[in-house]
Amino acid sequence: MFHFAGGLRTRRKNGSPMLSEYAENLGTAFMQRKTAIALRAAKVEAELASKTKSEFIANMSHELRTPLNAIIGFSEILMNPEGLKHEQIRQYSSHIQEAATHLLDLINSILDVSKVQAGKLVIDPSETDVPEIIDSCQKIIMPKAREKDLVMEWNISPDLPIIVADPMRLKQILINILSNAVKFTPTGSRIQVRAWPSEDGMHVCLSVTDTGPGMTPEEIDIAMSPFGQVRSTLNKTHEGTGLGLPLSNALVRLHDGHLRIESRKGAGTRVLIELPVDGPRTAHAAPG
Ligand SMILES: Nc1ncnc2c1ncn2[C@@H]1O[C@H](COP(=O)(O)OP(=O)(O)OP(=O)(O)O)[C@@H](O)[C@H]1O
Ligand SMILES: [Mg+2]
Repeated sequence: MFHFAGGLRTRRKNGSPMLSEYAENLGTAFMQRKTAIALRAAKVEAELASKTKSEFIANMSHELRTPLNAIIGFSEILMNPEGLKHEQIRQYSSHIQEAATHLLDLINSILDVSKVQAGKLVIDPSETDVPEIIDSCQKIIMPKAREKDLVMEWNISPDLPIIVADPMRLKQILINILSNAVKFTPTGSRIQVRAWPSEDGMHVCLSVTDTGPGMTPEEIDIAMSPFGQVRSTLNKTHEGTGLGLPLSNALVRLHDGHLRIESRKGAGTRVLIELPVDGPRTAHAAPG
């Protein structure tokens, strides 16, 4: 359209002055309209960015405030312990410890994500026994699964080789994926955890399959981005900051592995992780 107006303008010298004036006016009107559309688009974009920012701040404030309030509340009670039973003191102290641990985990995740973004996160690989790691994750996750009456199936192949990986980070990845499955799957459902060696023996594969709300491909993209959370009536009451998945993905990649999400809205989600048995080939590891 712009070319059309410009084309007419070039003919001004020879063509009708009325026609070229009309073309010029049309060109100006078009440019004004284009600028107006661009301005409106910029405004919508700014509004969206500020909405995301305020949603993020509201979510973060909630995530920080809840454990902090618990720490303040229970420590206030413990400051005047007269009349409290021994069991109550033990219970309140354990609430404080839980809340403080949760805060520390949250802050560590935020620091990890900023390190990933700065390309400064390193891993410390060593010979790692995958079933041992799965076992320790199972102990952490089972009480939460029992609270929700979830049926957990653990199918760990006896042929898993020892792999070169960072055991702490591998545990962090698995806890993130397992706690998502437990958090988003409705009460009474089933979650399957599998671990097996790849056919060529070069990788160890791990999968967590749930029958939760599932995600569309667009929602998976959101879920994989830092602080990205999929809003739905099903999960809006759940805790979290949207850091678990992007961090797990980054940690798997530092191992030169792959993390893939297969999901169908309303049907469930399967997270598949493949880790090379020989560890990362590229230098993502911590020196020494
Ligand atoms: N198994 C799943 N089923 C359905 N939705 C999921 C599942 N796993 C993740 N999601 C969606 O992806 C979002 C991002 O997940 P992620 O683990 O990064 O964050 P989070 O669990 O909300 O918080 P955090 O892990 O930081 O405590 C979740 O908020 C949820 O909307
Ligand atoms: Mg999570």
